[in-house]
Amino acid sequence: MLKAFRATLVHCPVQSSETVYCDHYADGLLLIENGKVLALDHYTKLAPSLSKDQVIAHFPDQWLIPGLIDTHVHYPQLSAIASFGEQLLPWLEKYIFPLEERFCDERFAEEAATYFIAELLRHGTTTALVFASRQVQSVQALFAKALEQNMRLISGKVMVDRGLTQHDSTEQNIQESRSLIREWQGRGRLSYAITPRFALTSTPELLKKAAELLQEFPETYLHTHLAENHSELAEVKRLFPRARHYLDVYDQPGLVGPRSIFAHSLHLCDEQWAVLEQKQASISFCPSSNLFLGSGLFSMAKAKAAKLRIGLGSDVGAGTSLSILRTINEAYKVCQLQNINLYPEQAFYLATLGGAKALSLDAQIGNFEKGKEADFIVLDPSLQPLLLNRWKTAEDFKDRLFSLLMLGDDRLVSQTYLMGELAYQQGKKLG
Ligand code: GUN
Ligand code: ZN
Repeated sequence: MLKAFRATLVHCPVQSSETVYCDHYADGLLLIENGKVLALDHYTKLAPSLSKDQVIAHFPDQWLIPGLIDTHVHYPQLSAIASFGEQLLPWLEKYIFPLEERFCDERFAEEAATYFIAELLRHGTTTALVFASRQVQSVQALFAKALEQNMRLISGKVMVDRGLTQHDSTEQNIQESRSLIREWQGRGRLSYAITPRFALTSTPELLKKAAELLQEFPETYLHTHLAENHSELAEVKRLFPRARHYLDVYDQPGLVGPRSIFAHSLHLCDEQWAVLEQKQASISFCPSSNLFLGSGLFSMAKAKAAKLRIGLGSDVGAGTSLSILRTINEAYKVCQLQNINLYPEQAFYLATLGGAKALSLDAQIGNFEKGKEADFIVLDPSLQPLLLNRWKTAEDFKDRLFSLLMLGDDRLVSQTYLMGELAYQQGKKLG
């Protein structure tokens, strides 16, 4: 069935050069057939091709943009968001590990997964790369809920086989991950990420077997944390005395490649940047979390110089918002602290097509190119009075885009669509 949406359309088309840009159609029309993009153009150009009885959903003065992409978030941590006073390791021990243990309870996991998916959609996030917990129940609950919503989502069992927290045997980690891959990889729009928590909770044996699993199932991803906090770095040095640096802990067993996504990547030497570049790995930039836990400032300059694919991560519960718009605001400030401008088109790109590229999903999502899955959101500036007021004196499209990215949050998202189907509408209970 053909669906037509009329609004201000904004997206990043496929880039032929290094410079990122946004296309916008002040009065645009988006056509969707069977959940995929059929065409996009100015309303006046495309409308005459429609049959007379075609229904057009019209959103005057609203923006319709691709669904936002969160490249690193922990769903079991949602209820620990905004926990006071600690940096990474004590924060994990005090707030996070005890909470994640509760996901052995199937009902608890189902309720948390249901709430999490609903919150993603309410915040305009249509795709996410998600840490579950070490309990198989947590992964089952999340995938089941995402499948029910026909959502594009990547997740996996958190592998832990030593230190810091309760853990599973190396063999149990591998066996449970393998059977989850067999059950979920490629079902609906789901993909599996092999997910060792981080170096400190992994034996070299686990990392080696995780790499073998990645080879056995090449369509899966590798998702983990890298070089987030100075105390963590000191412990990694102690536990892996023969590693050249943190990344080497993952690189030696063969875990660094084009389907690897490393969250944070803050404290890296030039050699590590070079390895990431050579192996074409991706990074999830998590500014809200990095500021909240006092972890450090991500170097966009180094990441750009290494031509890495970068996406934005809310990293909730260490991040303080699920909103990728709010995350952009934090990213801008992190760059400012290093005297770098994060341009509005670049920021928009990171949240959409850039995120899709970081997850190797740019053939499926990220913009309104013909044939892509029609995941999109409608932003209504009248829902954020400060933005509406700011736009009264906005100079041009770039100024409107920048102020929207700085001031926007979940209040701005009036509707969220998955594959052309309404999945969230502000103020209305669906289903
Ligand atoms: N490193 C290992 N586990 C975690 C986690 O849950 N959150 C963050 N921010 N870093 C981690
Ligand atoms: Zn994280």
